[in-house]
Amino acid sequence: MLQHRTPGDAHRRPANLAPLIEAATQVDQRAAFRADVLAGLGKAQKAVPAKYFYDARGSALFEEICTLAEYYPTRTETAMLERLAPEIARHVGAGATLIEYGSGASRKIRALLEALPAPAAYMPIDISLGHLQASARRLALDYPGLPIVPVVGDYTAPLNLPVPPGARLVIFFPGSTIGNLAPADAAALLAQAAGRVGRGGSMLVGVDLKKDPAILHRAYTDRRGVTADFNLNLLDRINRELDGDFRRAQFRHRAFYDPVRGRIEMHLVSLIGQAVSVEGQRFDFRVGETIHTENSYKYSLDEFRAMAGRAGFVPEAAWSDPDCLFAIHLLRAGTMST
Ligand code: AVJ
Repeated sequence: MLQHRTPGDAHRRPANLAPLIEAATQVDQRAAFRADVLAGLGKAQKAVPAKYFYDARGSALFEEICTLAEYYPTRTETAMLERLAPEIARHVGAGATLIEYGSGASRKIRALLEALPAPAAYMPIDISLGHLQASARRLALDYPGLPIVPVVGDYTAPLNLPVPPGARLVIFFPGSTIGNLAPADAAALLAQAAGRVGRGGSMLVGVDLKKDPAILHRAYTDRRGVTADFNLNLLDRINRELDGDFRRAQFRHRAFYDPVRGRIEMHLVSLIGQAVSVEGQRFDFRVGETIHTENSYKYSLDEFRAMAGRAGFVPEAAWSDPDCLFAIHLLRAGTMST
């Protein structure tokens, strides 16, 4: 359900910035966090979905991860976007409406906006209202001719996006965030995106490539322990928002690459046998028992093309950097094969 927010500060809103559309409320978000954490801690393999890393502190820690020497994806993708923007722009053409999934600070879209001929509008979707408001406003001031329509909500949910009929839609999904999803869920997200942009619409998606496991391992086990902090921050968030009593010092960060599944797994390992309470419920940990906090799937160019093809996209172009660390795929929605 979409509703318009009616702030009293419309006079300070740039003319090209539409009122924020709220597709999810704080109440919904807290209820979802509570339900997912309680269900996840009740499983035989305890698990919490990776999307819950990103409270204010988690988002700041992720930004710091992106600056680490070991963490190559962000800087590789950003450099690629800057270099490839003219070529991507030739594929996408004029008058496109850009929808970004998980827009955060809306930094990467700038490379495209510099190169794209006369984009019709930019619609950033993000779960964090604070981020979205600030970044949409900055972008509106920097691109006064570009209509900006920010949507706060979960892009995996069935949103009824206010796109003008006949608009040529391009979903921009950078960051290899799609790697957080199990392949079946990633395929479902792609299929939903194909339906959302409609026939002839496109998707531009950043995907981390399979590579030497040593490089992957270093990227998720950095020497300064920022990734460990990022992982452990989930316990602080549960303590604060769900009345938990996790003791962070009794858990340790662990990340490893599983070459069979083609994914990095992150876990929080209990250093002792202990009982923890969350929202009044008790959860027991054996020594060495873990909470599985993240999967980060890696795809070869062909693996990702094949998955996109099954989801109703025709692979149009794909690029990688000279070191073959990261890929950007441009997909065109065709007729659905299902
Ligand atoms: C934001 C999901 C792309 O999987 O590399 C970084 C998150 N986790 N370090 C990733 C993350 C640990 C990141 N994504």
